[in-house]
Amino acid sequence: MSIIKLLNKKTKKALFTTPSHNQTAIFSQKYMPFYEDDFSEIEGFDNLSNPKSSIMIAQGRASEIFKAKQTFFITQGATSAMIAAMKTLIKPMDKVLVARNCHKSVFSGLVISAALVDWFMPDENNTWGIYTKIDPKKLEATLKLDDYKVFIMTSPTYEGVNSDIKEIAKICKKYKTYLIVDESHGSLYNFSKNLPETALEQGADVSVNSLHKTAGALNQCAILNISKDIQNYDEEAFQNSINLIHTSSPSYPLLANIEACIDYLNSKKGRNEIDSIIMEIEKFKKELLRFGIEFFEDINHDPMKLFLRKQGLSGFDLSDFMYDEYDIEDELNNSIACLYLTGIGTTKQKLEKLKQALKKIKTNPSYEFTQGDFQPHPLVKMQPLEAFNKNYIYTNKEDSLLKISSTTIIPYPPGIGILYPGEAIQKWHLDYLNNNVKIISN
Ligand SMILES: Cc1ncc(COP(=O)(O)O)c(C=O)c1O
Repeated sequence: MSIIKLLNKKTKKALFTTPSHNQTAIFSQKYMPFYEDDFSEIEGFDNLSNPKSSIMIAQGRASEIFKAKQTFFITQGATSAMIAAMKTLIKPMDKVLVARNCHKSVFSGLVISAALVDWFMPDENNTWGIYTKIDPKKLEATLKLDDYKVFIMTSPTYEGVNSDIKEIAKICKKYKTYLIVDESHGSLYNFSKNLPETALEQGADVSVNSLHKTAGALNQCAILNISKDIQNYDEEAFQNSINLIHTSSPSYPLLANIEACIDYLNSKKGRNEIDSIIMEIEKFKKELLRFGIEFFEDINHDPMKLFLRKQGLSGFDLSDFMYDEYDIEDELNNSIACLYLTGIGTTKQKLEKLKQALKKIKTNPSYEFTQGDFQPHPLVKMQPLEAFNKNYIYTNKEDSLLKISSTTIIPYPPGIGILYPGEAIQKWHLDYLNNNVKIISN
């Protein structure tokens, strides 16, 4: 029986178990639907840490839909899915190559798996101020140099840039390096021909989807997909890693939400919704181009990520203008452009509101965009686990140069670290920071 059907059955049993709330909202009726389905692993229910019935069935159906060997449901976000994947494939002191534009959860994964990290810098786009693709040639040149167990990258990026995973996967296979792709922002790819191919379809060993970002699920809903072609697959090892970091009381409403989300995306209605949003976006762009709005474009770009700018206005000012004048909030912005995310739930009316507001932007003709400012290649002086365990002292800015940071500095969003514990503080960082920084004391 599916998770949703199981919850719909409504138990008549007297439950002297956790949770004690008796499936009743005691504090606020507003949250009643959550309470109604909020059980623990009572008799007849499945267990996420060792699924044997409804969760196993739901995960099995999801794996068929995502063309995976196995799909695991995660109720603690893509963060936990990434950490679990890393903990499984990386043994202590394994060398790991990581694209620097990965989300901060990857640093947590490096600490937890006691990995030795080398950072890989993705290509940069100066005129839009964003990281773009992983260059396969540069990747191959790096993989040649050392015995990397895993390569970890993000595709698509927040702004919708997709790397050539087919080529990257081929290279990783050649060097016997596992490829983990954080596909958090590409959870709809499996459900439309108008979107790029999924990382798994292109040859990644593991991919992670954050279903709450653009796929309509509740916050914290995520899945971890394992490729049918992964070498030396150890199901128990993956399950153990998930169990290591996952709560022992996963939320049934969230599990059911993951199941419902995937079923919806896979339905005709869900697929049609995605395609009709993409169609509306095409019209939206066409019209706004006539008003001087420029959209970031690229080969294999995700059309649902609206990263846009207008000459004569910084991205920061554009963001403020849209927020102050029209109550429209972007997902992120930089000095050049703003990112408006779309996905399941983006209505024609919402797009129309954005379009009308964008038409009214006021600009200053003498203003010129600044170029993107990118962090230098990190200088790793101490590996993540060791650095994470160190004490720190405060120092002033002038004294910090080339000392080892114990601070994590992560502008959010996008959640890409510019300084992690164990890395030397370089001049660029000092220019970036105005405040005191913490350093490791020895
Ligand atoms: C690329 C990427 N990966 C992972 C995450 C973490 O996702 P979650 O919030 O589902 O844990 C984020 C969140 O912003 C992200 O942008």
